Amino acid sequence: MPALPSDLPGAIATLKRDLNAVILAHYYQESEIQDVADYIGDSLGLARQAVMTEAEVIVFAGVHFMAETAKILNPDKLVLLPDLNAGCSLADSCPPEAFAAFKAAHPDHLVISYINCTAAIKAMSDIICTSSNAVRIVEQIPAEQPIIFAPDRNLGRYVIEQTGRDLLLWQGSCIVHETFSEKKIVQLQVAYPDAEVIAHPECEPPVLRHADYIGSTTALLHHVQNSAAPAFIVVTEPGILHQMQKLAPEKQLIPAPALNNCACNECPHMRLNTLEKLYLAMQHREPEISLPDDIRVAALKPIQRMLELSA
Ligand code: 13P
Ligand code: SF4
Repeated sequence: MPALPSDLPGAIATLKRDLNAVILAHYYQESEIQDVADYIGDSLGLARQAVMTEAEVIVFAGVHFMAETAKILNPDKLVLLPDLNAGCSLADSCPPEAFAAFKAAHPDHLVISYINCTAAIKAMSDIICTSSNAVRIVEQIPAEQPIIFAPDRNLGRYVIEQTGRDLLLWQGSCIVHETFSEKKIVQLQVAYPDAEVIAHPECEPPVLRHADYIGSTTALLHHVQNSAAPAFIVVTEPGILHQMQKLAPEKQLIPAPALNNCACNECPHMRLNTLEKLYLAMQHREPEISLPDDIRVAALKPIQRMLELSA
């Protein structure tokens, strides 16, 4: 294999111009990738950027369902994912055949699915949501309408608590956000009495009970910038700390550890992407995201519905 350029960020910038490409990155990507991205955001922000971009090629530094969403929104564009194996435990926890049976057993229910699911699940859904608009979207559905909420039971429980609605939950979860220990968070609160606990709604209820603020990755970032607190115990994937440190350098950031001090609070799927793989994907114009036309067309509708309901 030919040697990689010594200046990878420079080589990526050149390829970006040559390809007329845009690099969209999620906050959970390693810092080197965030530093070459044109836009860094949460799932909703990334979907909105995918709609707005005029670039011919979308290089998606995130996981498969995010790149797939960009392709659903841009069927004629080349969408590259540096590592096609970058999946998501939450998306994997909702297999299409089992979900089809679940849906068939509740024919009167509207299906709202968290964007962290495969295109096949999106195609069976009425509305997609993200962690930043789930509450707002459920609030807009008439009170008498029964709702299936899939696949994340933790986000679902959080939405039930916030809206008072009785959602029928699919029992999926995220391996990363289920790894945080309530006991260690309480110990950190004792050690840092001035710190606020901020958490992603994919965390389990015992952890969320200790949170002073709950929100999507973008919302957590804005909260760190805007809150008067001097320190934050951050209960989500630690990739977000890179932008928090950049945008709020005066704030102290304490990443919440996993249960047994392993690195399990890092998303193993997100971390499959590297700067080297991103460069190679752009150089070879692969691996590319593709999906069957029928699934793509059916999955587009509920994504558009989400964008309308959260405009
Ligand atoms: P958001 O960035 O939308 O908050 O989602 C977090 C996440 O787990 C993405 O997979
Ligand atoms: Fe999926 Fe969890 Fe990783 Fe997000 S952090 S991509 S929900 S496994």
